Amino acid sequence: MAPNKADFQTVLSQARELVKEQLAQTEKVIFDVAKKAPAGISERLESLFSRKGKRIRSTLLCLIAQSGEQKPSSQRVAHACAGIELLHLASLVHDDIIDGTDIRRGQKTAHKEWGTQVAVLIGDYVLSQSMQCVIDEESHDIPTVLSKAADKLIAGEILELDYTGDMHLSFETYDKIIDGKTASLIAAAARIGAILAGFDKEQADQCAEMGSHFGIAFQIIDDLLDYGFGSKNLDKAKFTDLGNGLITLPLLYYFADCNEQERSEMESLIKNAEQADVPEKIIALLNNKDAFKKAKAKAQDHLEKALEIAESLPGSQFTDEIIQMFSSMDNRGN
Ligand code: FPP
Ligand code: MG
Repeated sequence: MAPNKADFQTVLSQARELVKEQLAQTEKVIFDVAKKAPAGISERLESLFSRKGKRIRSTLLCLIAQSGEQKPSSQRVAHACAGIELLHLASLVHDDIIDGTDIRRGQKTAHKEWGTQVAVLIGDYVLSQSMQCVIDEESHDIPTVLSKAADKLIAGEILELDYTGDMHLSFETYDKIIDGKTASLIAAAARIGAILAGFDKEQADQCAEMGSHFGIAFQIIDDLLDYGFGSKNLDKAKFTDLGNGLITLPLLYYFADCNEQERSEMESLIKNAEQADVPEKIIALLNNKDAFKKAKAKAQDHLEKALEIAESLPGSQFTDEIIQMFSSMDNRGN
């Protein structure tokens, strides 16, 4: 990989600038959803939508959509982006309920603000609206891709719940979990971008694979940030995964390289992860086994694969920006 250590946030801002027209129209489509919603939902959606995320998925979609010879209309791109962002948001509203997270995007989570019952229904409404954003899309593949991505998100999240607290989680199951809960939506965004760009089936499959590798790397790094590894400007609480009994990649590397005594020591620390000082002890043991470094190397492997595909796309300033995004991903502070 090219030794590019640009900060991911800076690269992402540049990328958003390049597709700002499409992203501005996406905002409009999203806020129209709030405006058209019935009273009681409308105000809550306005509040939810104003907590803007990083727009990684829609930015990638726009960049790919612009990278071919066929330039799709901004309206088509904006509706597709709104579908992706709303599906993402619906999943986060539900994820925060499942994880019991208090803070998201620097503010109170939906369930903290309005209670669990209302937050479940707001998430449902946003999910339904995400599908409606693409219902009139001229390519029938786009609604199908979006709805299949929702299936995969749900399957990934259920798999994660089924394995919560399982100290014998395999690398294979961990891969399946993050492929489902994170990579599937980024892969869908990339595939939709490719469809809008007019790419053929083979190129669209390649773009989806590229998005998937990027998504897997993104989630591994997210899991590392939960331990505070590589974090700066972190606006999310640390050790949420540990507190929720989630076994992520650094622990898998530890368990793959420890004796029985070390395993039982770690298992009892994980069971007591809510106690003060315990997360720090876990971190020290993980560092002793280079578990964070190994996890980061795995993320870098996936980024290399994503980069290889990005470099084979038709050359353009949009493709260059995708390459920059992937190259700086491992330098992500939050
Ligand atoms: C965040 O992971 C969670 C996801 C990426 C997916 C959550 C999916 C669901 C709740 C099921 C799908 C729901 C709908 C409405 C389609 P994380 O908890 O590791 O990351 P975090 O630190 O951002 O919370
Ligand atoms: Mg979560």
